[in-house]
Amino acid sequence: MRELDQHSITEEVLRRFEQCENPRLKHILGGLVRHLHDFVREEAITEAEWVYAIDFLTRTGHICDDKRQEFILLSDTLGVSTLVDAINNPPAPGATQSTVLGPFFVEAAPLAEQDADIDPGEAGGGVPLYVDVSVTDPAGKPVGGATVDVWHSDDKGFYDVQREGGELARRARFVTNDEGRLRFRTTTPAAYPIPDDGPVGEMILQTRRHPMRPAHVHFLVNAKGYEPLITHVFIDGDKYLDSDVVFGVKDDLVAKVEKRTDPTMPDGEKATGPWHLMTYEFRVKPGEGAAPKPLGTRVTEDA
Ligand code: BEZ
Ligand code: FE
Repeated sequence: MRELDQHSITEEVLRRFEQCENPRLKHILGGLVRHLHDFVREEAITEAEWVYAIDFLTRTGHICDDKRQEFILLSDTLGVSTLVDAINNPPAPGATQSTVLGPFFVEAAPLAEQDADIDPGEAGGGVPLYVDVSVTDPAGKPVGGATVDVWHSDDKGFYDVQREGGELARRARFVTNDEGRLRFRTTTPAAYPIPDDGPVGEMILQTRRHPMRPAHVHFLVNAKGYEPLITHVFIDGDKYLDSDVVFGVKDDLVAKVEKRTDPTMPDGEKATGPWHLMTYEFRVKPGEGAAPKPLGTRVTEDA
């Protein structure tokens, strides 16, 4: 086929995929070609704009490494991550809702015991946070032995992996006790801007969006016989709850974090001043229990 014009080109590209033996691959590529061609036609994309788009994606790839995943950030800020999550994890009666994984998940998080302090440095002088959560089924029956990955920013809004040469901190992998409970100590996280020194930041700044996420703690719950749950607990009252740059907030995931002045924290340790208490119940859905391979930051054992 020759002499293709702006209309006939689409059918001809689709025809070239006809021999594809994988029906799902053929279907998805066909949809991509149709939507992409329609988009280019409808917006009458100029050559300069297409060159810019290719350069933008090239720079997005170049800035990725084992600690930075700019493509996830792009998907998050365009709302695609939340859309994929919404399609694949629709709300289920009695079950906790999921939200985006984000780019700061680390597979090799250190194992920690109940009551551990996962931010022992507290160098930044943040407010101590005592986290008391449980994992149950939708009817409230405790789920013991669940693996719970936890990660969050520091009180300045930075993750450990964003700090040059920094040790892993404010992240751990716990196991719930027989009552499905998990308690640990850390530092209250702050709202933070997503990394804005790359192509995604350029898009956010050029379009006059703000780059902020409301303060939250990430949780990834895996239990035998239950669907994996990727979610956050957000801190109530945060001013960015209604305008999260990655569209991840759900009412159910917003928890009251109490300000406490008791002289002793629940782990029996003396409090050094005011502290916060976060409580939450994660309700997981019965299911296969197969952990998805999360797309996140890969940090090798020896990193
Ligand atoms: C996060 O919560 O860690 C996050 C999620 C999406 C984009 C950037 C950061
Ligand atoms: Fe986060």
